[in-house]
Amino acid sequence: MTAVAPRIDPLHQAWDAIDEAELRRRHSLKWSDVPEAMGAFIAEADFGTAPAVDAAMRDVIDRAGYGYLPQWLLAELREAYTDFARERYGQSIAPERVQIIPDVLAGLEHAINYLTRPGSPVVVPTPAYMPFLEIPVRLGREIIEVPMLHDDAGWRLDPVGIDAALEAGAGLVILCNPHNPTGHVASRAELEELSTVVEKHEGVRVFVDEIHAPVVLGPARHLSYATLSPAAARQAVTATSTSKAFALPGLKCAQLILSNDDDLAGWAQDGVRAGKLASTVGAAANVAAYREGGAWLASLLGYLESLRTELDALVEQHLACLGYDSPEGTYIAWLDCSSLHLNESPAAFFLREAGVAVSDGAACGAGFAAHVRLVFATPRPVLRSMIERMGEAVRRHQA
Ligand SMILES: Cc1ncc(COP(=O)(O)O)c(C=O)c1O
Repeated sequence: MTAVAPRIDPLHQAWDAIDEAELRRRHSLKWSDVPEAMGAFIAEADFGTAPAVDAAMRDVIDRAGYGYLPQWLLAELREAYTDFARERYGQSIAPERVQIIPDVLAGLEHAINYLTRPGSPVVVPTPAYMPFLEIPVRLGREIIEVPMLHDDAGWRLDPVGIDAALEAGAGLVILCNPHNPTGHVASRAELEELSTVVEKHEGVRVFVDEIHAPVVLGPARHLSYATLSPAAARQAVTATSTSKAFALPGLKCAQLILSNDDDLAGWAQDGVRAGKLASTVGAAANVAAYREGGAWLASLLGYLESLRTELDALVEQHLACLGYDSPEGTYIAWLDCSSLHLNESPAAFFLREAGVAVSDGAACGAGFAAHVRLVFATPRPVLRSMIERMGEAVRRHQA
């Protein structure tokens, strides 16, 4: 009997072979903004995008398709997204409910400006993706931070804290699932509990950020909040895009799913015209990603799962004194550095002592100044080198 060799994914081999010099040659924000350090501070993956997306970009060039977003492309994108959501999440969405916006954060601004009680505070579970703590303030809203609960089972929303914030008059809850920065993927029970709490308070809305939905690592599964029940569908306004899974944030195209009938009716009146703000080039790329990117995405997820296994081992070996929960989704890890007792932010410490640029937890909410956020979507040897350098810095500090 001959042994069957395990199939090696050629993409994984190609990604393993990317070195730091090549990443720097690409001049991405992650690898150029802090030139003296290895970049792990922004949620970008270093693996390029699907061949189908590259081909769609070439097609745009060949037909000089740089004009305003045409109706046929808008219709294609709506259908491409609804097909993708049906196949991947078993979700049934009418294409006309899918609006095209430039990015997910524009969706948050729309939700705050048009879909919430004027002046009502915004509930932000923390730790939070940093702009969730900036945008409501810029739009004149108070923020009520509600720390997530954390124990040996990991992170989860605090329904009691959210209930109290809504009781105090908040009109919007920001739900980020999969969660940046903890990598937590919410369970059905957790989402149902949130929906029950929200339903107790009249007119409260939930901005559901599902930008990382395609990046759920096994065995976790993504469940879209709006599909829970008719009540959740009314509460939700959901934003997603290909930006994270297919590494396309620079192309400025995202999807806002209006599962609430009033939101749909109001969309045209509010002067937010579909297609006016999203990029035509981005729309073409999103269609290709959703329609033809499945095999590439499967390779990416396989690679990210292997990186997560590697990260678990590397943290155990080099950074065992830090708090860490293996991420269930996203390509972001959240590290608790409080045991280091630093007299500076751990992000500043790792930048200077390890030459690794991570995000400062202080920007993710009150009480998280001893944490850092590390983006692990980088070639395996680069990830190893980052964690080894961080580990050496910790050993020197503790010596
Ligand atoms: C949870 C989350 N939401 C939104 C964004 C930003 O997305 P966009 O560029 O589409 O506004 C990011 C980017 O990292 C993110 O992680």
